[in-house]
Amino acid sequence: MDKIVIKGGVPLAGDVQVSGAKNSALPLLFATLLADGVSEICNVPHLRDINTAVKLLRELGAEVSHEGDCLRVDARKIQSVEASYDLVKTMRASVLVLGPLLARCGHGRVSLPGGCAIGARPINLHLKGFEALGAEIQLDHGYVEATAAQLRGAKVYFDMPTVGGTENLLMAAALAEGETVLENAAREPEIVQLAEALNSMGAKIQGAGTAIIRIQGVETLQPLNCSVIPDRIEAGTFMIAAAITGGNVLVRGAVEEHQEALISKLVDAGVTIQKEEDGLRVIGPEILSPVDIRTSVFPGFPTDMQAQFMALMTRSSGTSRISETVFENRFMHVCELQRMGAEIQIDGHSAIVRGVREMTGAPVMATDLRASASLILAGLASENTTEIARIYHLDRGYEKIEEKLAGLGARIWREQE
Ligand code: EPZ
Repeated sequence: MDKIVIKGGVPLAGDVQVSGAKNSALPLLFATLLADGVSEICNVPHLRDINTAVKLLRELGAEVSHEGDCLRVDARKIQSVEASYDLVKTMRASVLVLGPLLARCGHGRVSLPGGCAIGARPINLHLKGFEALGAEIQLDHGYVEATAAQLRGAKVYFDMPTVGGTENLLMAAALAEGETVLENAAREPEIVQLAEALNSMGAKIQGAGTAIIRIQGVETLQPLNCSVIPDRIEAGTFMIAAAITGGNVLVRGAVEEHQEALISKLVDAGVTIQKEEDGLRVIGPEILSPVDIRTSVFPGFPTDMQAQFMALMTRSSGTSRISETVFENRFMHVCELQRMGAEIQIDGHSAIVRGVREMTGAPVMATDLRASASLILAGLASENTTEIARIYHLDRGYEKIEEKLAGLGARIWREQE
């Protein structure tokens, strides 16, 4: 198994290109199932989760080919409507095939994902939405089976804004009969991209990016042709890498409107952010001020940036409170940061972080995707050597992160254990 080795203490400098967003590419890939034709999606990042999605599409009968960073999906022959436990347990986002399968084939069978490292993460709101659209839902041996000869538009109220639930319902409702209204919908940029992509296929969706989305069902959709938006979480991770090392980095592809909450908190911490033509320049201060954050749904502070921001706050000049409200178990990185010398106390859904002058590198273990990123950031800011094991988590969502950081001057490399 590979590990990442970092000898920190170098202020990062230069520019770095952000890849396409994993969490946008995944629903877009599954949306290709809605059209009886050949779709093409470009700016797709090279990641383990994308490979899992391709495997799933192939198991369903789609033909998938790569050309550079473009993927062609021929969804003319769908032979199976099942997402197996083996795939869903590898990647929860596999449940996003249920909406397209139900809409296109009238039937879908998807393994229930089960718990995960960051929380329980049920899919009850997806299922409640499909039921509102007239689908019959049955649970059988760990699988969800959804059936509907014809989905019918309906009002769907989400008890909480769910990204995956909103995406699954958008895809199903695009081919339903009549109007669907999604209330308390998620508003993330990935939802907006999916709605725009579906509209380019012939769907009639209004209001994406707000809490109320209206979908007029259509009979068929054309194949998709689009390019994935830049990854706001990867961009945010590089922004913090610049900030934590006192560096000066242009993050190419970072979109200001996608980063409002992070930018505001970084500025409070004393970081300088300048908008440039093709990205955001981030200049770290000599001394970081402590800042409190509370994660919430977009446009609030993203839960996917919580671990990275905590790593930043371990180096601040005071005490900050990091509160996690989206997932119930997303502090797995705390123990590993503590092994590197961080002073953190967990108090319910909050972590109290007392900034320290120096962190000491240590062998640590990645526990999930964003936790891995926070350990890399802490390692970059530490004078000694940090070794991060179990980096397969990292490869799910960051494209060549060690090469990109090395391009900014970081002493970081991958080794076989
Ligand atoms: C998406 O997960 C992202 N994944 C996650 O990214 C991200 O952390 C999360 O949104 C929140 O922003 C993808 O886009 C592939 P949710 P998703 O449904 O859709 C509860 C990463 O590191 N909930 O918005 O699964 C749920 O338990 C990851 O890239 C229900 O109770 O998240 C959570 O507390 C990890 N019932 C909250 O809602 C449901 O049916 C938000 O979850 C659905 C969700």
